[in-house]
Amino acid sequence: MSDQTDHSFNSDHFRAVMGHFPTGVTVVSGMDADGAPHGFTIGSFTSVSLDPPMVGFLPQIGSATWDAIAESGSFCVNVLSDQQGDLCWKFARSAADSTRFDGVDWHPAESGSPVLDRAVAWIDCSVEQVYDMGDHHFVLGRVGSLDADADHDGQPPEPLLFFKGALGGFEAEG
Ligand SMILES: Cc1cc2nc3c(=O)[nH]c(=O)nc-3n(C[C@H](O)[C@H](O)[C@H](O)COP(=O)(O)O)c2cc1C
Repeated sequence: MSDQTDHSFNSDHFRAVMGHFPTGVTVVSGMDADGAPHGFTIGSFTSVSLDPPMVGFLPQIGSATWDAIAESGSFCVNVLSDQQGDLCWKFARSAADSTRFDGVDWHPAESGSPVLDRAVAWIDCSVEQVYDMGDHHFVLGRVGSLDADADHDGQPPEPLLFFKGALGGFEAEG
């Protein structure tokens, strides 16, 4: 079999082109073996299956946060609102920074994983399968419980969006 690796491939160009696909922004959270909360900003969240209900996301292989929460066998996806841009950057910093949850209000979901207060939606999952794909894992989760539209002072919550390296909001047309 021939080596089909393209050694001239430009990863900066790959990143720049992929940045043209807008995503929502989530914080995937979980607990470590000592009962401490962990979480990281994840854009690669997707719904996978309705029956059975499954979702997935792709953490980088070697991620300290994923390594910390994987053992618990569960995680919670928190969809950030447009009022939570600060959390997007806070939870994207190096995991060596253990202050991610400082000043962040949360309560445990059924699995024990943190539900962040005032998120647009949250999806609590048990880990069904972890597949290695290139330099990322694909984590497939079975949904245990979920909810959306928490009270935002009487206002409908609006999602946070990420596009070409910047954060913005959603505006409905028509
Ligand atoms: C908007 C946004 C989306 C991100 N999406 C992902 C993702 O899907 N997968 C991933 O591995 N890292 C993603 N990151 C980067 C991680 O948040 C970051 O590498 C991580 O928090 C570092 O901690 P760790 O070393 O514990 O993984 C994203 C960052 C931002 C700002």
